[in-house]
Amino acid sequence: MDDAIAFLRESLIPHAEAEDAVLYPKVERVMNAPGATATMTRDHVEVVRLTADLQRVRDSMRGIPDPDLKRELQRILYGLYAIIRLHFAKEQEVYLPLLEAGLAPGEADDMFPRHARVRQCQRFGA
Ligand SMILES: [Fe+2]
Repeated sequence: MDDAIAFLRESLIPHAEAEDAVLYPKVERVMNAPGATATMTRDHVEVVRLTADLQRVRDSMRGIPDPDLKRELQRILYGLYAIIRLHFAKEQEVYLPLLEAGLAPGEADDMFPRHARVRQCQRFGA
């Protein structure tokens, strides 16, 4: 569970924040629809909230979890799984084709290094 929490906090959430800063504004521009990605940003917020729930449960665990705590863990983990799986599918099946069709030549090449820089700055607190 500690590895899962570390992955969520150190990799997935910074990745999502970089998407909010770099990827989603491009999607909105390509769609000519300001605010169109707000529902996807809301998915990110929910992942942050469920990660905090998972950390809270982890911090409260002493030995083998009792049935109530097991149910709480299942609720959180199934929620994370469903949100993340659907979110990735939406990005892969909807946003990436939109970007491939709508970005100018070379623009995607510029976007992905910028996305990586944003993630790196977040990782080091810059
Ligand atoms: Fe995302």
